[in-house]
Amino acid sequence: LAPLANPIHREGPVVLLILDGYGIGKNEAKENPIVAANPVVINELVHQAKEHHLYTRLKAHGPAVGLPSESDMGNSEVGHNAFGCGQIYSQGTKLVDESFASGVIFRTPQWHQVVAETAAHNGTLHMFGLLSDGNIHSHMNQIFKLLDGAVESGIHKIRMHVLLDGRDVSPTSGLVYINQLEEKLAKLREHNVDARIATGGGRMYVTMDRYGSDWKMVQRGWELMVHGVVMPEDVTSEYSGYFRSATEAIELGRRLWPAKQDQYNPPFVVVDEAGQPIGRMQDGDAVINWNFRGDRAVQITQTFTAPDAEFTHFARGAMPRLTYAGLLEYDTEVHIPRLFLVPPPEIHHTMGQYLCASGVTSYAVAETHKYGHVTFFWNGNKSGCIDEHLEQYDCVESLPNAQTESHPEMKAPEVTDKLVEAIRSGRFRFVRCNLANPDMVGHTGNFQSCVRAVQCMNQCVERVAREVEARGGILIITADHGNVEIKDNKGSKTSHTCAPVDFAVRDFAYHGEYTLLPEGQPTADADGLGAGLSNVAATVMNMLGFEAPAVYRKSLYVPAH
Ligand code: 3PG
Ligand code: CO
Repeated sequence: LAPLANPIHREGPVVLLILDGYGIGKNEAKENPIVAANPVVINELVHQAKEHHLYTRLKAHGPAVGLPSESDMGNSEVGHNAFGCGQIYSQGTKLVDESFASGVIFRTPQWHQVVAETAAHNGTLHMFGLLSDGNIHSHMNQIFKLLDGAVESGIHKIRMHVLLDGRDVSPTSGLVYINQLEEKLAKLREHNVDARIATGGGRMYVTMDRYGSDWKMVQRGWELMVHGVVMPEDVTSEYSGYFRSATEAIELGRRLWPAKQDQYNPPFVVVDEAGQPIGRMQDGDAVINWNFRGDRAVQITQTFTAPDAEFTHFARGAMPRLTYAGLLEYDTEVHIPRLFLVPPPEIHHTMGQYLCASGVTSYAVAETHKYGHVTFFWNGNKSGCIDEHLEQYDCVESLPNAQTESHPEMKAPEVTDKLVEAIRSGRFRFVRCNLANPDMVGHTGNFQSCVRAVQCMNQCVERVAREVEARGGILIITADHGNVEIKDNKGSKTSHTCAPVDFAVRDFAYHGEYTLLPEGQPTADADGLGAGLSNVAATVMNMLGFEAPAVYRKSLYVPAH
């Protein structure tokens, strides 16, 4: 990195604090937990930043973060990718859409391998993943296209293993998607394809764990899909776990536990008239994971593909010989899985690479739920430090998922302890931290829990600000996407939003040396997209005293003359 012509010199570090899922909403205490919580420290910080022209709003959804359309809400994967690489890459879902549009996906050797293996053993094609059109981990349209492609390739027996969403879409919309899928499968059956839903369960209870926080979830999914077994803990005298259809299972669950959201839906197995599971996996079958996003696909993929000697998380039982493919490659470093249908974005020139090459020290911290976000996604989907001599990454172990609603402070105080300690140590010039609460608690939909989460954020920000001030550094408050800023008292809003986010700078040694490009003003980027998360990397580099790389989207830092 080249030095900036007139760099600012600060004693302390540049600290970027990402309040995950803290979007800009309406100024309405009834619908906005942020307004209801009245986080005075954060509000004052934003107010001051505005006064000094050190504030702007950033786009955090749609094309500004590499998603197909303006109606695509932001998410942490694409958001942290954009922060960390300073550029906009077409993200997984867009690449998948393009591959379907061109037909390339069905011409790949990988696709032919899946089809050929299934045919050679007269096997079944199993497909599983998140069943919704949330477009964060998966999309219904893509699932239907995979089904059509499979049938066109001559597959005649298909079993679907579905994970109900309710987290990227409305919390009890599961049956809408089940109905759409059943309709589609019925059409396929008219054409002599034996296609059925075989198993299912809620995504936050079955299969889709991330960052190793709860392998039990993965085990439940494995038992369901592979062995056709609902684990004993999920069976009661009223809920047998075995049903003649997905709809029957879900309707019973709704009657028994009316307050349960889809994301926690109990697992179920669909059985035939003899009570036998219709979709147990057998030698010679093939399996496609239709999720494109990696974080919650890695563990189940490892469970399918890791050799016995390497798999220690639970006893998998009898292992059928299966061909397993991901819609995308979920980890491009360790190559999980080996077989995938669409190549993922290849992110180059990350900020971490540049900073390390220039000898800049940095620190990253988050709790388990978001640890990979602020490290792996931040570094362009690469795990681990780029340079251990210059970087330190810390993870604070999260509470179990089920406690997020009742403990909305989560591990934020402990993450803040680490963060404050890192700032105080004086060892790091660039410090980044993700506080998970506004997002994770936002996903519960519980208004009061969200208010408490925001109040907790306020206390954390106060402690961080005090420390940055003591060190004479710069504190930046921002977010990766919206979520917590719109809720209601019915708990009917659990998903992310398309809201913009704050980018507020509190420079404790500020003497008017620079300002930020004002809100709404076009950036110097040729694409005309306006200021978004991908403009942050160049901005931070300028604050650290460097010119931003030419490939980056433009800095929002405006030197005073
Ligand atoms: C999840 O995986 O929890 C949600 O689908 C997306 O949340 P995130 O993008 O904030 O991680
Ligand atoms: Co989220």
